[in-house]
Amino acid sequence: MAERKIDVLVIGGGMICEEAVLPTIFQERRLGNVGQITVVSLNSGIISRLREVFPDEEFVGLPDPDTTPPDKNVPTGYKELLALMGENGLVYVTTPDHLHTQMILDAVNAGQDVVCMKPLCLKVEEAWQIISLVEQKAAYVFTEYHKRRDRAVRALRYRFRRGDLGEPLYGHAWIEEPKYMPLDKFKLWAEKSSPFEYVGTHYADVYHYVTGLMPKRVVAFGQKKFLPTVGSDAYDAIQAVIEWENGSAFWIQTSWVCPDDNAKMTQQGMMFQGTKGEYKAEHADRNCYFVTDEGGFEHYNPNFMKPYDDWDTPGVKDWTGYGYESNSLGIRDKLKILAACEGKSGDEAVAARKGLLKQWSATGCRALPRQALIGVAINEAVRLSVDSGAKFVTFDERFFPKLA
Ligand SMILES: NC(=O)c1ccc[n+]([C@@H]2O[C@H](COP(=O)([O-])OP(=O)(O)OC[C@H]3O[C@@H](n4cnc5c(N)ncnc54)[C@H](O)[C@@H]3O)[C@@H](O)[C@H]2O)c1
Repeated sequence: MAERKIDVLVIGGGMICEEAVLPTIFQERRLGNVGQITVVSLNSGIISRLREVFPDEEFVGLPDPDTTPPDKNVPTGYKELLALMGENGLVYVTTPDHLHTQMILDAVNAGQDVVCMKPLCLKVEEAWQIISLVEQKAAYVFTEYHKRRDRAVRALRYRFRRGDLGEPLYGHAWIEEPKYMPLDKFKLWAEKSSPFEYVGTHYADVYHYVTGLMPKRVVAFGQKKFLPTVGSDAYDAIQAVIEWENGSAFWIQTSWVCPDDNAKMTQQGMMFQGTKGEYKAEHADRNCYFVTDEGGFEHYNPNFMKPYDDWDTPGVKDWTGYGYESNSLGIRDKLKILAACEGKSGDEAVAARKGLLKQWSATGCRALPRQALIGVAINEAVRLSVDSGAKFVTFDERFFPKLA
């Protein structure tokens, strides 16, 4: 049996790509799980930057900086690459949220499997388009909600599902980021998004992942006080309450106007109260910090994704943490799909794929499209509520939100 390796196409090349996706894929290649790596971005300037960040890693980067001006945008360059990919392929979609749908549909139509950064997409209508195509083609489309792999969250799920906490009553989460996010990093699309849609979605997904409950009603509150004074029409902060099908209520507070010199980039945590017990966890401050002449005081979260010295090879970085586990899951899953389909073709191969997808769907652990739909629906409902002055929003049976 030939040794299997996954050929990866990454579409994007921005912040998440640099900090989490590419380090994961390069490490998976060192472990023998990945073959060819191609990164296709909007322009060759982004590829040149990635070459500077990863000088020792080989990858095909397109558009090619040697033949294309750095600022010439090629927004559909990824399409021809999809057509060239074989059955060992896996596509990482790491572009801004509003571009996910078309790229996922194109990849699945080209016969590929996909890992998509959260959220799956921005509209429930688009999520159903994706679900319909994915189910027709028996494709694997995994939304990378990495909080699901955080041990502090997995612990809550495990103990909740054992019954230790009883019936859900209520919960509270906070996730807040500094001003440089809307004003610098995401200034091109901050007004189209919000701190809830960008990061609050993680905790909406967590509540669903832990309890398996479906949302029933949402009401959201938003403030625009600081950002308008510096020329941005984005919300400073959004808070939402989600009522779930069992009557429990979950409050999520989000902001992206925290001080820029906050010692941790994303402050976050959660509490959960059930009829038999409670859970409380700080998810950013893990009681570990550095103080250096160069960087000052720095909260250090060793759990997300940090480089450590490799145990076997001097000078090699060992990326560890739930960011790595979550991003590499797609590669490990694709290897399992290939193994299940080995020696099969046509209907037999499709049946093998469907068997695996059904099994993974039953665990509820991976955000496959029907699960990722919940985060999309809550995002759309929060936007509707906040833009209409904090009106209640309900869902129909397909999770389309509507003003109550
Ligand atoms: N899991 C998380 O917690 C997490 C964290 C950050 C971002 N994200 C998600 O990851 C995605 C990307 O976020 P980011 O922070 O890296 O954004 P970013 O703006 O830094 O990067 C997006 C990249 O996509 C490129 N791009 C745009 N159009 C393209 C096209 N047509 N073809 C190829 N490339 C194109 C841009 O040039 C840019 O390099 C978003 O969906 C975001 O919500 C997830």
